[in-house]
Amino acid sequence: MIEKLQVEYGFGGALTFVPGTNGLLKAVLVHRSGARVEVYLHGAHVTSWRNAAGDELFFLSRESNFAPERPIRGGIPVIFPQFGGGSLPSHGIARISEWSVAHTGVLDNGDILLALQLHQSAESLELWPYRFSLTLGIALAADSLTISLDAENMDEKAFSFTSALHTYFGVADIGRTALRGLQDVAYIDSLREDIQEVETRPVIRLAEETDRIYVDAPDHLYVDDEGHGRTIEITKAGMPDVVVWNPWIAKSQRMPDFGDDEYLRMVCVETGIIAAPRDLSPGEYWQGTTRFSTA
Ligand code: BG6
Repeated sequence: MIEKLQVEYGFGGALTFVPGTNGLLKAVLVHRSGARVEVYLHGAHVTSWRNAAGDELFFLSRESNFAPERPIRGGIPVIFPQFGGGSLPSHGIARISEWSVAHTGVLDNGDILLALQLHQSAESLELWPYRFSLTLGIALAADSLTISLDAENMDEKAFSFTSALHTYFGVADIGRTALRGLQDVAYIDSLREDIQEVETRPVIRLAEETDRIYVDAPDHLYVDDEGHGRTIEITKAGMPDVVVWNPWIAKSQRMPDFGDDEYLRMVCVETGIIAAPRDLSPGEYWQGTTRFSTA
């Protein structure tokens, strides 16, 4: 399997397929600048992004599962077709499904591309009775990582979905982390019976459990990781909403696949279609993208 993928889709040292944790298959993208990304075919799950200096930008829990049918805790879980609530497994089926490689490439400027694809399966049809095509595109450049998500309705009936890139940023210290770009945005507070309020702070610092959906947020946001002396800029398109999540102390202790103290070194800033489901008619498709860049 690995050899076949390597022959068909590998690119020398720039894109290789290797066994990851517990033997799950992963693709490793190495840009000529030194920037590097790792992505598991299980869930199309990006688990690591290092910049050209070799610094890790994402958080990955030391307690994460790496097993079929279990989500990975950290990196970028792909959420589809349901963000929350509903009858499907938590955050949908994409993050616990096995994806296949659709396309790879290395551009003249050195950027590396990998596209992974997921279609309905007998199991998914039992849970969610629609035929679909979902493509996750990954583009690694020297100083940025761009993720695109395409959903297409391949069925004869319309469906509606919610979806997100549930990105876990790794930070040196949550006490020295600031989020910028959400001032004046209305949010739904999932921890207070979905009460709706408007964010007043230009600079958000977390000091307790936080789980908020910012509705129709601006397309440029910033995560200042002051402990590491770096800022990540998030630029999104076609993904109106943003979730800010940190489980803090008690919830960290309740989550079996998350270390008790790990809330100190992560923050999730998720981009997607979350507050209002998107309808897709037969044959219709949607695309959303999020670009992460470091400064
Ligand atoms: C966030 C949700 O997106 O994901 C939280 O807003 C949830 O409510 C968190 O706790 C983690 O979810 P899961 O399913 O990965 O444990």
